Amino acid sequence: GVPTPQWRPAYHFTPQNNWTNDPNGLIFLNGEFNLYYQHNPFENKWGHMSWGHATSKDLISWKHLPVAIPEVITKDTTTWIYSGSAVLDKNNTSGFGVNGKPPLVAIFTADQPKQKKESQFIAYSNDGGLSYKQYAKNPVIDLNMHDFRDPNVFWHEESKQWVMTVSMVDEHMVRFYGSKNLKDWTKLSDFGPAGFTKNGWECPSILPLVVDGNPANIKWVLFVSLGGEHGPLIQYFVGDFDGTTFKNINDNSKILKTDYGDAFYAAIAWRDAPQNKKILLGWLQNGRQETYPWKGQMSIPHDLSLKTTSEGLVLNQLPSVFVTKALPKYAKGKPVEKKNVTIGSSGLKLPGDGNAYWIDAEFDIKNAKRVGFNVVEKAGTDKKVVVGYDAEKQQLFVDCTGSEKNNKSPENLVQTAPMSITGGIVKIKVLVDRSSLEVFGNDGEKVISTMIYPDKEATGLSAFADGEAAIKNLKLWNLNNDVK
Ligand code: FRU
Repeated sequence: GVPTPQWRPAYHFTPQNNWTNDPNGLIFLNGEFNLYYQHNPFENKWGHMSWGHATSKDLISWKHLPVAIPEVITKDTTTWIYSGSAVLDKNNTSGFGVNGKPPLVAIFTADQPKQKKESQFIAYSNDGGLSYKQYAKNPVIDLNMHDFRDPNVFWHEESKQWVMTVSMVDEHMVRFYGSKNLKDWTKLSDFGPAGFTKNGWECPSILPLVVDGNPANIKWVLFVSLGGEHGPLIQYFVGDFDGTTFKNINDNSKILKTDYGDAFYAAIAWRDAPQNKKILLGWLQNGRQETYPWKGQMSIPHDLSLKTTSEGLVLNQLPSVFVTKALPKYAKGKPVEKKNVTIGSSGLKLPGDGNAYWIDAEFDIKNAKRVGFNVVEKAGTDKKVVVGYDAEKQQLFVDCTGSEKNNKSPENLVQTAPMSITGGIVKIKVLVDRSSLEVFGNDGEKVISTMIYPDKEATGLSAFADGEAAIKNLKLWNLNNDVK
């Protein structure tokens, strides 16, 4: 391959070498965020699926560790380690602990291509998550199915059991299982089909989230990823979970989207994160463009909550406070700041050095049609990507029609999210990291994540307004530092 350092993100996770897709087994342990990930240790493309491993103290810089769970090859069977989760078995319910030290238990799908079979396996670690031993009596759940995958497990205190969500892919259902010991599992209930059902359901997970900042008010959010021709989608359902059944508070036909871009996929949250935070991490898919010597990257981690809005009770997502707390430490110098500046018809130039930066902006949209930023502008050409808010259409948008590399299907060139504003004020966060672009609107009401592949020289950045508008507040951190 041809090396593509210009697209290697500075403050997002990528494997040092070779392929990644889904995040797996996210668990916070002993002061560190563990990230396992779908990994091909041998090639820069999907295959030989194994769990790669990295840890971080601040969710920005990552320590790369050896493969934690490799594929298993015997004479008749190849077992690939597909997506799943990991739990700390504090009370040693599994009996895998040694010398009074609780084991970590990974629960994942064993994909056996020769047998065309997927079943659920467990493996345990007695060295803090560095290496795992396969349970001798695997599989722990076997329905003799081809597409049955991505178990996500947590301890449900109220019903005093481990609860698993796992995907019945072609049935468009999430199956709930319960267990006392992580080895013996009993079916609790099924949810679905519901919402979007055109593509197979993958990577389900369920989380309790705080509503409107009131810790006494909890609703459960069930996430399901769907691949397929129209670009990836993560839909979510809001409801109640009693230890057996998930009850949707909305009509089952309602479709709620986690992200309005074409990249955010297979997201799951960290278990046991500090301050009871629910931090979601997704894989940013980049199907159409080669990067080398790695392929695939993770999103910025999102802190999740629920918010009552005119659209009902919806998910709110902001870059994790752990990331924003650590960010200044990684920035080159002080952030660039602007306060109450009018954006003229020729725009306002900003330093977009190296295409690795982070903007927090607040616009007063006045009578402008649209406000926002031109990013990855190539001097002397009309190549750029436009990010902003369209007041007429009431949409947050990312317009890639002028982008350098056409890495998108035609229907994804312009990506939009419905968003209303009050008092003419629009807040936008723009995270550009060489090949990824993530946009958060209105303090996390809407998110658009996508991949961009600008030329090395295409680093122009400016604010624009179609009409009269002002920047009330802006902070820009330059992160072109190769934080690793
Ligand atoms: C989602 C997915 C999962 C599966 C894994 C295999 O991207 O297809 O359903 O476990 O990737 O790599």
